[in-house]
Amino acid sequence: MISLKGRDLLTLGDLSADELTGLVDLAVELKAGTQTPRCPGKVLGLLFSKASTRTRVSFSVAMYQMGGQVIDLNPSVTQVGRGEPWIDTARVLDRYLDVIAIRTFEQNDLQIFADRAEIPVINALTDLAHPCQTLADLLTLKESFGTLSGLTLTYIGDGNNVAHSLMLGCALAGVNVRVATPPNFEPLAEMTDRARALANGNSEVIVTTDPKAAAQGAHALYTDVWASMGQESEADDRAPIFAPYQINHTLLDLADPEAIVLHCLPAHRGEEITDEAMEGSHSRIWDQAENRMHAQKALLASVLGLV
Ligand code: CP
Ligand code: NVA
Repeated sequence: MISLKGRDLLTLGDLSADELTGLVDLAVELKAGTQTPRCPGKVLGLLFSKASTRTRVSFSVAMYQMGGQVIDLNPSVTQVGRGEPWIDTARVLDRYLDVIAIRTFEQNDLQIFADRAEIPVINALTDLAHPCQTLADLLTLKESFGTLSGLTLTYIGDGNNVAHSLMLGCALAGVNVRVATPPNFEPLAEMTDRARALANGNSEVIVTTDPKAAAQGAHALYTDVWASMGQESEADDRAPIFAPYQINHTLLDLADPEAIVLHCLPAHRGEEITDEAMEGSHSRIWDQAENRMHAQKALLASVLGLV
């Protein structure tokens, strides 16, 4: 395992291919219980400006299981919510904490914080990226298929933060990635370009508006909500545009017979995914949610220098 001691994780582009696959391999070991890193006395801060169930709880439990502690720095109970600048907050918090995970809107706010803070800063979701989610997704792929290299993951839906991180993570890990979105909802071109650069010819990065072509022969079908946090007012307008991009038995029938179904959650059942696809034999969605904890424990252990 290559140590990430002291490093930030703002997007998966911060990692090399070996660092990313090393983290996934460490997560496999931690899940199996073959090693148990310990960090008594270390403190993780959670500065979340948006709602969270999985990320908040899985980070907290991972830290507790390693003997560390967690402080909830919700903006509504800190001066952040009253407008104290991020650069000042960063310079103070890094004198108390050992590591911080931040969920916010603008990637630039996260970058400003990370530029000022000496401690590792982890992106717990921004409008641009959700790298911790992709770590768990790669772990889920690896435990389902025994390998990552050569697999094809198809993401169908909005070209959002989750799609961006999947593109970067899959490209680095040698997983072919296809992203099918309605016209005008494609991933940002700069993220597609970045993913293709990271793939370095070792895997394909395809962006299309054709969900059926994208699903053909795929090893994983993945989706996320059609309107992300902060876009709720667009949900009604988006629903008819996204309707042909629902993960259901029609798309699953086109995928590899052993294909798995993934969703980062929370899901809107009956919109981006059917109940049947969520609960059917192909679904690995609940293991995927559990894997948030194992993957983030591996990340914390690595940036804290425990491995
Ligand atoms: N998938 C995910 O990040 O879930 P939360 O928003 O509940 O943390
Ligand atoms: N794209 C979603 C992911 C939630 C985990 C959002 O940003 O709301």
